Parts: sequence; structure tokens; C-alpha cells
Amino acid sequence: MNHPNSQLAHSIGMFDSGVGGLSVLRAIRALMPEEPILYLADQENVPYGSRSLEQVRKFSVAITNFLIAQGAKLIIVACNTASAAALNHLRAIFPKMLFVGMEPAVKPAAGHTQSGLVGVLATPATFQGELYASVIERYSGDVEVLQHTCPGLVDQIEKGNLVGDQTRKILEDALGPMLDRGIDTVVLGCTHYPFVIPLIEEIVGDSVRVIDPAWAVAKQTKRLLEPIEVTNLKRKNISHRYFTSGDIKSFKSSLKKLRVWNASIEKIVWESKSQLKIESRENKPVKNQS
Ligand code: DGL
Repeated sequence: MNHPNSQLAHSIGMFDSGVGGLSVLRAIRALMPEEPILYLADQENVPYGSRSLEQVRKFSVAITNFLIAQGAKLIIVACNTASAAALNHLRAIFPKMLFVGMEPAVKPAAGHTQSGLVGVLATPATFQGELYASVIERYSGDVEVLQHTCPGLVDQIEKGNLVGDQTRKILEDALGPMLDRGIDTVVLGCTHYPFVIPLIEEIVGDSVRVIDPAWAVAKQTKRLLEPIEVTNLKRKNISHRYFTSGDIKSFKSSLKKLRVWNASIEKIVWESKSQLKIESRENKPVKNQS
């Protein structure tokens, strides 16, 4: 394994079950535009949220091995579900690697709410994990936290359906009862959901604050990278890469629909569900549009 201080470890590695982690990538790009990024979307296995924590943990270990082999110096688990399932495990089995994970932003929500009622939207697996239980125990205090799993929302966002009737219905079903109870804060506990913030804001109105943790995660990443700046000496020659275990064309069209920055896309395949390898690369690498 490349040590994070090795010259071979030059990029920020990121992964998600699909396009959700791109909401975190946007913040990373805004804060650290000079950092090369390796972004992996495990679209063959999306959604992770309805899978067992054990299965998601296995995927996360294999993906981490793959990203380290491609030159990751730090890995952002840009998926709340994978963070819930695997973050502690990854830190234990890759002790030299730096990890940044996602956790539902209950702490800022509890600090902000005036009504004492907060809503959290996340996948079933995230709600089942110990991470969520510990966040609630540590930060919710007297605040009542209402939860909803938004069934089908990740699929709609994967399809690029950010404003259609189905997407609206899923969000109205999730948020309606929470609004009736009097929430004034909504936490986005799945990295796919920031792509539907405009629709969420339309439904909840001006008086409800919507919390997307991407910016906090980007700042934490920057802080962790500062002491290992030496690894970036050669980064001018290093390119940004996307990997998908799904279809290159549809990933490319998602980048366009989600208005996320473009780079070359590589197709990866699972070998026996425990190892990933690169199968092919997009014919024409896309020009960096930064
Ligand atoms: N974006 C993910 C999350 O943050 C995964 C959603 C899914 O694949 O179900 O939880």
C-alpha cells in the first residue's frame, strides 16, 4: 500500500454508490481546485441504502484498496451509508490511510432549531448503523429528531430526475408529516439528496433551514491534507479521473445533468465482488472544464 506521505499517493480518492458523492466533490473542487481527484461510483451496486451493512462494508474495503492502488493519499467516504457501514472498519484495517466520512449533521441542526424539532432524511442502512445512534446520543439533547428514508429518491437522482413528479411526490411524502409536526431544520443525511435542494426548499419554504454537510467535509479534508502537502509536489502532471462500475455513457450524462465538472471516465468491473479492475477508458478523454 502507498503510504499517504509517499510521492505515489497524490490524489484525493472519493467514493459513493453512484453520483451522490459528486455533491461532496463540488465542495472539494470549490475549496481545493488544485487537488487531483479520483472519484469512484459503484453504480453496479447502487443503491447501497437497502443493502446490509456487512455487504456495504465489503464493497467499501475493496473500493478503498482500488483507490489506494490508483494513488489516493486520503479517502473521502462520500456516502453516508458506506460511512455508517464501514468507516470505523476502514480506519482499523488501513491504519496509515487518512479517511474523511459523512455523518448526519444533527449537531448543527440541534444548535439551529428554535422549534426543537428536526428532520433527518437518510437511507435505511444509515439509520440502522451505530454511527447514527451515536450522533443522536451525543448531539440531539432535548431536540426531537424525526426520520424518513425517502424510498426511491436515490434511484430518481441516479436517473437525473431532479424536479419531476415522482421525485416531488417522494419528497412531499417524507417532508409533509415532518412539517405538520413543526420542524424548522432538515438534515440531508445522504449525499445524493443535495442535488434536489431546490425542490426540497420549494416544499419546505423559507422558514425551514436545509443542512448539506458537503462544505464542512471539504473543510475537514483541507485541514487533514495540510500536514502532507509534500505529496502534492508533482500534482501538476496528474489528471483527474472518474471510475464507474456502471455505464460510462450514462455517468457522463449524469455529470451534465447534475452540472458537475467533467473529466475522463473509466469503466471498472467487479471480480468476484471483492476486487475491482479497470476494464476500459472513455475513447476521448474530456477536456478539463475547470
Ligand atoms: N449517497 C449514498 C448515501 O449517502 C448512498 C445512497 C444509496 O446508494 O442508497 O447514503
